[in-house]
Amino acid sequence: MAFTIAIDGPAAAGKGTISKAVAQHFGFAHLDTGLLYRAVGRRVLDGVPALDAARALVAADLDAGDLRTPAVAQAASKVAVIPEVRAELVDFQRAFARRQGGAVLDGRDIGTVICPEAEAKLFVTASAEVRAQRRFAELAEAGLATDYDRVLVEVKERDARDTGRADAPLRPAPDAVQIDTSELDIGAAVALAIQAVNNVR
Ligand code: C5P
Repeated sequence: MAFTIAIDGPAAAGKGTISKAVAQHFGFAHLDTGLLYRAVGRRVLDGVPALDAARALVAADLDAGDLRTPAVAQAASKVAVIPEVRAELVDFQRAFARRQGGAVLDGRDIGTVICPEAEAKLFVTASAEVRAQRRFAELAEAGLATDYDRVLVEVKERDARDTGRADAPLRPAPDAVQIDTSELDIGAAVALAIQAVNNVR
């Protein structure tokens, strides 16, 4: 059986954590599609042209250890503006979505562009300040020195680029269930997400 759960939303809203927990709950495979753009952005920082990097991408690239840095996040959101780069990454995502046994994909355009026919769609948001606070805590935990104001600026820059681009901008699909995690802990957010999926199963 193929069953696709599409989970979209801005940076650090809790999509990643929710997606992993939902996939585990239903026994589905999980793809963090941001890693595709991060892997391309990572190569661009090494001087490789973005489209060449997208064409050469292989699944093993998603396991590279240094994809979570702020520099790679910014590079990712810049390559994600390029329509030809996005087009290169479509087939891999759609094949993953239709695999037997069910799949959870999280990103920015899963419910709108990659999998408009997904059986379940969620849009996970939180205020920019709450998201920056969470990202700041994550970076501090990982030992990456930074300050909150800098992180807030970067979150807002990425939001502007992700929502403002012409091709596949970040926005909720009309049929997505919206979950605002600003005032929810992880357990409560995951419970709402599982409930939303169960409502359409
Ligand atoms: O989710 P994550 O923060 O890892 O994504 C990094 C960047 O990749 C985002 O800021 C966005 O520009 C891009 N992205 C995208 N479409 C997706 C997933 C990520 O454009 N489906």
